[in-house]
Amino acid sequence: MESTRRYTVDVIAGDGIGQEVTPAAMRCADAVAQAHGFRIDWRERDWGSDRYRAHGRMMPVDGLETLATGDAILLGAVGAPDIADEVTLWGLLIPIRREFLQYVNLRPIRILPGVVSPLRGVDELDLVIVRENVEGEYSEVGGRLYRGRPEEMAVQESVFTRTGVARVARYAAELARTRGGRLVSATKSNGIIHTMPFWDEVVAEVVAGYPQVQVEKVLIDALAARLVLKPHSVDVVVASNLFGDILSDLVAGVAGSIGVAPSANLNPEKAHPSMFEPVHGSAPDIAGRGVANPVGTMWAAAMMLDHLGEPDAARALEAAFEQAMAAGVRTADLGGSAGTEEFTREVLARCTA
Ligand code: NAD
Ligand code: IPM
Ligand code: MN
Repeated sequence: MESTRRYTVDVIAGDGIGQEVTPAAMRCADAVAQAHGFRIDWRERDWGSDRYRAHGRMMPVDGLETLATGDAILLGAVGAPDIADEVTLWGLLIPIRREFLQYVNLRPIRILPGVVSPLRGVDELDLVIVRENVEGEYSEVGGRLYRGRPEEMAVQESVFTRTGVARVARYAAELARTRGGRLVSATKSNGIIHTMPFWDEVVAEVVAGYPQVQVEKVLIDALAARLVLKPHSVDVVVASNLFGDILSDLVAGVAGSIGVAPSANLNPEKAHPSMFEPVHGSAPDIAGRGVANPVGTMWAAAMMLDHLGEPDAARALEAAFEQAMAAGVRTADLGGSAGTEEFTREVLARCTA
């Protein structure tokens, strides 16, 4: 008899609603795993802001080495109102993305069943943002001078490398080829005159190797308006770290709520584990009330199952939350009355169907 397939997944529920949405997604992943003949060995990590308050670190000194031995990472959210974001995020989330060369941040979005877009006349939306995830505007190069003095200043350099831009452009072009060949490159080469023209050149060079793919260079400001006015005219977007970050919350809003949007931080070569998380943050305004929408994390868990080589289970998980939503079960961010627990039970009931 074939032995059961097993995957080791590190779970970092983290802060705020991360503690609520992550267990919900784990239960659903377990349910589809069981139905599809494999199991997930979860290694739960108590890393995050509570740990920082107690021990002065977001994760142990050897945290990254520990994660390196697993197959994937599922993360909830990081960030607490009483600790500076640069301490919490740069102590946990960002080092994982960088150390494990998760240079693609894949952020698909759709208007899910039963959801009405806040935009009049928009009833279909199905696009993917391919966000550069380890360089660009999120750079450690820079500094602060003369703190607290009138002449105080801050400098932060963006870093765009040929390797970094080319590899994310290649990933986006490959994806666009499988989705009808339309690729939008988000740029700002009219105002940012060194890095963005370079981005444009490298993207154009890479896409020239894909005759089936048409790349359209769109200025980020105009693209923001176009994603609101004509979201159907966009299919795959390749964007720098910051532009991709902003656009992903924008399109999630167009799809009804940032609570449904998933994110896969991929090391496409699989030399290191990839990390799966919702697009949203720790939502301190609603944390602890049991009302958070777990769909973004469930969808991220489905992307994780795809990445682990379990596409049937991934589709079953997506179908389960889509069917629950189609049946009218929705959390408060989407105008419904279900709490996280009730919604999760409705999804679980459909995971093995
Ligand atoms: P946020 O995404 O946490 O919340 C923005 C708004 O969306 C809030 O009103 C929140 O209640 C709502 N919301 C978010 N997720 C929801 C869900 N699943 N269900 C229902 N409503 C939801 O963004 P923010 O308020 O700008 O950031 C809060 C903290 O989270 C900050 O510390 C920030 O740095 C951090 N953050 C972390 C991540 C991450 O861990 N990947 C991502 C974004 C923000
Ligand atoms: C995201 C988040 C992070 C980012 C923050 C918390 C650093 O907004 O994953 O979208 O900007 O990458
Ligand atoms: Mn973001």
